[in-house]
Amino acid sequence: MASVPEIFGTMAYGPAPEGAAPVQSWLERHGRRFGLFIGGRWTPPGDESFETLNPATGKPLARLTQANSADVDRAVHAARAAQPRWWALGGHGRARHLYAIARQVQKHSRFFAVLESLDNGKPIRESRDIDVPLVARHFYHHAGWAQLMELELTDRVPVGVIGQIIPWNFPLLMLAWKIAPALAMGNTIVLKPAEFTSLTALRFAELCEEIGLPAGVVNIVTGDGRTGEALVNHPDVDKIAFTGSTEVGRIIRTATAGSGKKLSLELGGKSPFIVFPDADLDGVVEGVVDAIWFNQGQVCCAGSRILVHEGTAGRLVAKLKSRMETLRVGDPLDKAVDMGAIIAPVQLEKIQGLVRQGEEEGARLWQPSWSCPREGWFFPPTLFTEVSPAATIAQVEIFGPVVVLMTFRTPAEAVELANNTRYGLAASVWTENINLALDVAPQLQAGTVWINCTNVFDAASGFGGYRESGFGREGGREGLREYVRWAWEKEGGRAVGRKGGKAVRRSSPKVNRVSASERPAALPPYRPTALPPIDRTPKLYIGGKQVRPDSGYSLPVLDSSGRRIGEVGHGNRKDVRNAVEAAHKASAWRRTTAHGRAQVLYYIAENLAARGDEFAHRLVALGSDVSTAASEVAIAIERIYTYAAWADKYDGVVHHTPFRNVTLAMPEPIGVLGIICPDDQPLLGFIATVLPAVALANTVIAVPSTRGSLAVTDLYQVLDTSDVPGGVINIITGSANELTPVLAAHDDVDGLWYFGSAEGSAEVERLSAGNMKRTWVNHGRSRDWTDPRRSGGEEFLEQATQVKNIWVPYGE
Ligand code: NAI
Repeated sequence: MASVPEIFGTMAYGPAPEGAAPVQSWLERHGRRFGLFIGGRWTPPGDESFETLNPATGKPLARLTQANSADVDRAVHAARAAQPRWWALGGHGRARHLYAIARQVQKHSRFFAVLESLDNGKPIRESRDIDVPLVARHFYHHAGWAQLMELELTDRVPVGVIGQIIPWNFPLLMLAWKIAPALAMGNTIVLKPAEFTSLTALRFAELCEEIGLPAGVVNIVTGDGRTGEALVNHPDVDKIAFTGSTEVGRIIRTATAGSGKKLSLELGGKSPFIVFPDADLDGVVEGVVDAIWFNQGQVCCAGSRILVHEGTAGRLVAKLKSRMETLRVGDPLDKAVDMGAIIAPVQLEKIQGLVRQGEEEGARLWQPSWSCPREGWFFPPTLFTEVSPAATIAQVEIFGPVVVLMTFRTPAEAVELANNTRYGLAASVWTENINLALDVAPQLQAGTVWINCTNVFDAASGFGGYRESGFGREGGREGLREYVRWAWEKEGGRAVGRKGGKAVRRSSPKVNRVSASERPAALPPYRPTALPPIDRTPKLYIGGKQVRPDSGYSLPVLDSSGRRIGEVGHGNRKDVRNAVEAAHKASAWRRTTAHGRAQVLYYIAENLAARGDEFAHRLVALGSDVSTAASEVAIAIERIYTYAAWADKYDGVVHHTPFRNVTLAMPEPIGVLGIICPDDQPLLGFIATVLPAVALANTVIAVPSTRGSLAVTDLYQVLDTSDVPGGVINIITGSANELTPVLAAHDDVDGLWYFGSAEGSAEVERLSAGNMKRTWVNHGRSRDWTDPRRSGGEEFLEQATQVKNIWVPYGE
């Protein structure tokens, strides 16, 4: 037996195992076989089944049912049947259920933690101190949102039946992130856990029974990707919420295109961990431990790329290596273990393969001297130095305990390296200089930025990606949007169809919302002159200049009776390319102050008003009657005022996350937005879609409707005289049907709004999967552009932005 001085000499830990007896006897009670939880009942274990294994031993824990499409269908029906009553229960009724779930999770927290560690391989310290407390916190927080929904989310209604598909890395936590907000907002759920880790979801289903959650409100179907696919493709599901790999996210984006299903995707990442020379290096080292060795690095937002100032790299690497020597890998149920097991052999092989590739590509590998347990699937903490930014291990999500380290010289170079990835989930910034941190944070393309901390989460703060890390947020007020619709959406508009495969936009409803007193003086009667008008050469508007279309062709514009009233330039793929380039070059627009942007918008309104009669005449020539045309111009001017007003008022919030920190939720522009404008009310349709995007600092490539183009080409001079910087608004006339797919498939376009046919909407959603651009489409429904509430408000501001959460700790 070791003496006390010897123990002090080595400070070696003895084993401190957590007992698993309650969990094992629960498994035994179920005969280690589970069915599905559908409509408040358990189905008998299915004929087709699979084993769930303990990653720390490789031994089976239980046999689970592979749900087939008939099972999924039954679950969706149960959820559909339960939804109206769940919504009718009201916010307070739902709050009580969510509160009961939170209490029950807390009462059974140790059980959940042990079950999670057994099934997933994560250290008990993490499941006990991080995962399960966050699960309870999520249900408490959203019990509050259920209570407040009627007051705080006016005009919003539930989406309906939600299909939720979650991964294996945080099984119960991802379940809570998905279920809590969906239930709070009055939806019902069919959830598919990951095939490797379904046990805590099944225990959660029992807990729903125990608290008396109405049957059918939560349904759990187990199975692999085939079950997920059946859920995604089920016609009666209103929304899919997915967390997992970017590859499967892309499949789901494509599969749901045109279905009208709402979609949120939380996908992979390759998050930068930026260390400036003045950072507290000991804090940084512990930060790296949390960033990449938390959950064995199987974390979508893992800080897997250390970017360190070149003068600091040597010291950091030395400190990291000595810390890595002290990390303990082993039995996940041992309370003194830092890292547990890798989820499955397939994941271990993936990690091993990428590590081999890293060495083959010339990076220098370092691992601690000790070895991992032989039983089960383990991988040691691994550090790569001398990594080139283009190396596979610097670009690909490894999803294991492997970190790469690269150096930079200046903050600008750090930002460039950080953004040199297709992902954008998270980033962390380490410096004692708050000015530097807050200067760098907005420049990082990531949904979450942690300053001097990493991998901290809370239900009050939104979490989600930029770029190919997906879209939508989970947590916070911003996360609620994923589970509500605007009340009027279900009412729908007229269908806008296609004839002969071509999108056909129907003519507009009458515009007469402006009261007589607000209307401009009646136009002088429109009299076509006997002389032919001066012929105008149709041009496009790119980079602040009028340019001839690359094709050299023009398209005739016809009025509603088929009479030729003019021509517009026939824009093509090359014009789109030039416009996208111009829009990127105009990125300084996002650094223009909100006040500055508002002033530019007011100036547009002023100049449009000065030429109001001329625009009204143009609309008359396009087929409007005189009073409708006058109203359209008046409403367009008013709408510009609305967005000029919003430019410096649509601001962020400070979330109350329960740490010694402030979490700043900042709405940031999407970036370069394509906008396919509606055919209805051509001038107003253009103003009502392009101006909110520009007000909130996006740069835009707009495609006016062919018929309405003549109203928009007249705007070129208005924009020129209103101090709109070149490239902020680019206008390409031509055939919307030809230009839409070009924009939808363009990898340098960050988002696309489409107001046209149902077929066009489907095409946009499908083609957007290439770079996971944000899309907002109308599924072929028209909207009344004159309605200031439905077509001139918050919905547009939300669509024009994505929320970044910046965590700023305080205290010494
Ligand atoms: P995955 O994306 O295949 O699985 C996630 C979930 O989607 C699981 O529930 C799975 O059954 C389901 N699924 C699979 N194919 C589907 C389909 N066609 N339709 C609908 N649902 C489907 O991730 P997987 O295979 O577990 O891990 C592969 C890689 O993905 C990992 O190595 C890692 O790089 C990444 N990953 C990223 C996660 C994240 O949180 N960002 C989480 C899990 C994995």
